[in-house]
Amino acid sequence: MRRNPNVRIRRAAPADILGIMSLERQAASGAHWPRQEYDRLFLSDPGSLSERRAWIAEDDPDPLAEEGKQQQPKLLAFLIARVTNDECELENVVVDVNARRKGVATLLLAQLLHHSQEFHVSSIFLEVRESNHAARRLYEKSGFEIVGLRKNYYSQPRENAVLYRRNLC
Ligand SMILES: CC(C)(COP(=O)(O)OP(=O)(O)OC[C@H]1O[C@@H](n2cnc3c(N)ncnc32)[C@H](O)[C@@H]1OP(=O)(O)O)[C@@H](O)C(=O)NCCC(=O)NCCS
Repeated sequence: MRRNPNVRIRRAAPADILGIMSLERQAASGAHWPRQEYDRLFLSDPGSLSERRAWIAEDDPDPLAEEGKQQQPKLLAFLIARVTNDECELENVVVDVNARRKGVATLLLAQLLHHSQEFHVSSIFLEVRESNHAARRLYEKSGFEIVGLRKNYYSQPRENAVLYRRNLC
């Protein structure tokens, strides 16, 4: 893996929605949501029993670049998870096609693990298409274990979902 030292992880903000949607549209294998679902990420709902959290990975522009030549950070990836009581579900993670295999998703997962431990989450769950070998390798490398299979869970194309869990305590 070729690591990218200039990656910064931060919580997502409403201004990131269009960038997140553009990354999401690149990835046929990831989850696809309508715009309203992304808007809801940033609305507080006191009646809800769960809360969604989203993080962004962006490249860190050179702070030593000459004034006037400083670039805006570029959105490289996002991760969205839902926390309910002491459980967390990883709902989606997508990395820009040009930034893959540089450890960006691993950094986002590490952020999720850190955050989950801080909020006393005991397990993180996720489901993934059986044929999504890249994502499955990523999860297995990050300590997730297979805990089940949902037959024909996905449509277009129809496919099994593999369920993974990572225990934190
Ligand atoms: C899956 C995905 C998020 C991985 O992001 P990434 O930043 O490239 O992952 P990392 O660089 O952190 O890779 C970590 C490990 O995962 C595995 N991995 C990642 N991509 C892989 C690939 N294309 N083939 C095989 N293994 C892969 C490797 O073991 C890798 O470690 P290594 O590079 O040292 O061998 C990215 O390919 C992606 O956005 N895919 C489309 C969206 C998607 O399917 N999301 C998952 C939805 S459930």
